[in-house]
Amino acid sequence: MTRHLLNIVDFTVDELQLVLELSTRPVEALARPLDGSGVALIFEKPSNRTRQSMEMAVVQLGGHPIYTRGEEVGIDKREPAEDIIRILEGYHAMVAARVFSHSVVDRMAAVASVPVINMLSDVSHPLQALADALTMQREFGTLAGRTIAWVGDYNNVARSLGEVSVMLGAEIRYACPDGYGPSEHEIARLSSLATGDAHAGSDPSWAVGGAHAVHTDTWVSMGQEAEVEERKRVFAGYTVDDSLMSKAADNAIFMHCLPAYRGLEVATEVIDGTQSRVISQGHDRMHAARGALAFLGGVR
Ligand code: CP
Ligand code: NVA
Repeated sequence: MTRHLLNIVDFTVDELQLVLELSTRPVEALARPLDGSGVALIFEKPSNRTRQSMEMAVVQLGGHPIYTRGEEVGIDKREPAEDIIRILEGYHAMVAARVFSHSVVDRMAAVASVPVINMLSDVSHPLQALADALTMQREFGTLAGRTIAWVGDYNNVARSLGEVSVMLGAEIRYACPDGYGPSEHEIARLSSLATGDAHAGSDPSWAVGGAHAVHTDTWVSMGQEAEVEERKRVFAGYTVDDSLMSKAADNAIFMHCLPAYRGLEVATEVIDGTQSRVISQGHDRMHAARGALAFLGGVR
């Protein structure tokens, strides 16, 4: 059966741990599973980290990445997603896509004979969550028993972080404004994934209290630009600043997938301060991408 990476839960807990372990193996130990193969990278939205880290990961595994912008491919405009994937699988060992609607990667995976990788959709961002886990594991040794706070919007990054956290045995606490948080059903789904736990509320001080890692992300994800003014109003009071960070555990770290908007979701003093790990987190995107691609390429 062809394996895909559309959400973190596409992995079992054991597979997730293996992917993270592969991500930390030296490149030379991964035996170039993409030797002589192509990997298509289709982007319907802008990217810095995801494009660059995926291209480098493909090269490190011996493959050749081909980047294409969404306008050029025209998913469901120039031709249906299914036709695109049926053609690309004739050229490439894997196809990766950053899409507006998650249903597009679902439809691609439903017909693909090669792995399809979600490079961010409106629902999830699994490659980001793998990198987040790598950064936190390096910091804490293990996520088991740790408390992770998320302050802000329950978006694609938040959902994937929740999956990875619970699967690795951590407690995740979401603080989101009313109407922008996970549903009770979603919290139950996350909590049921493995030994970790998920909780949600609306008070940032509650979520951050005693937490070992504090995460946030933009209040306005790509595709939500029309809501920018409304969202700035709704999320006022959800800025991660020094005063909020002082409620976290001693030596707590601050994390953000980037791009970040200083003065909105995070204060400059935090993102550019000593507790911030955002740059090593960004660098971990390449290692996580390499681990995920190696796993999908059959490395064990
Ligand atoms: N964090 C992340 O996915 O960044 P890019 O949008 O730059 O790829
Ligand atoms: N939630 C953000 C993440 C960007 C990497 C977005 O979807 O735009």
